[in-house]
Amino acid sequence: MKKITVTDIMKMKAEGKKIPVLTAYNFQMARILDNAGIPLLLVGDSAGMVEAGYDTTLPVTMDEMVYHTRAVARGRVSAFLVSDLPFSSYQVSITDAMKNACRLIKEGGAEAVKLEGGARVADTVKAITSMDIPVMGHIGLTPQSVHRMGGYKVQGRTKTGAESLIEDAHAIEEAGAFSIVLEGMPANVAREITESLSIPTIGIGAGPDCDGQVLVVNDMLGLLADGRVPRFVKRYADLKNIITLATGEFIKDVEEGRFPSKDHTY
Ligand code: KIV
Repeated sequence: MKKITVTDIMKMKAEGKKIPVLTAYNFQMARILDNAGIPLLLVGDSAGMVEAGYDTTLPVTMDEMVYHTRAVARGRVSAFLVSDLPFSSYQVSITDAMKNACRLIKEGGAEAVKLEGGARVADTVKAITSMDIPVMGHIGLTPQSVHRMGGYKVQGRTKTGAESLIEDAHAIEEAGAFSIVLEGMPANVAREITESLSIPTIGIGAGPDCDGQVLVVNDMLGLLADGRVPRFVKRYADLKNIITLATGEFIKDVEEGRFPSKDHTY
């Protein structure tokens, strides 16, 4: 399969092709999703919640992101690979942001980085793109701002809120981002942003009119030990149930002496 690049992703918008995106955090899942044809894999800092069990994405470190990105990069064959800059890796100074973006590319094997925020991070986006590192923006319900937002709340519901999201989207495009995630906002706001930008928008909880859609792979596959799944998630499989049934069978087989059988014995 042909290697997908940043220009292919940008061309998809121009050609009116929707862009499916999934998160991945490890080698096996990355290889499976890539073989299934996903064009863009995102090593999200959601890794902290779905892989490490943190309550928010805030504790995720650069070292953890490098570890997950490396594993996904080894599993990926043709998908374009974007990796998240975690909380505190780009907010303190532009120099930090540049160094940490380099780490995700150099040590992790990512081909682009993603960071959260609108106009206030435009200079940071500019600085990273000036090093020839493609940047994906992320506005709306930005999980790293959970404390400012007072929880995981849909953004842009008021007229001024919607106007400031539209300004943020334009600031990120003008700063040189190749694409932008629109998370947790009314569908009409996401539509207006999508129609007014030339870079692709990737929606999550932002309605059907974005240029692409992203889901956290564990949500999409029903691979969560517990917890409520947000309304915007569509579950395509029930892996928790499959794993629970398989584990029950294994326990019984061992307890009742059916495993290992002759077939599994040297
Ligand atoms: O961290 C993440 O997985 C994300 C996506 C949900 C957009 O940022």
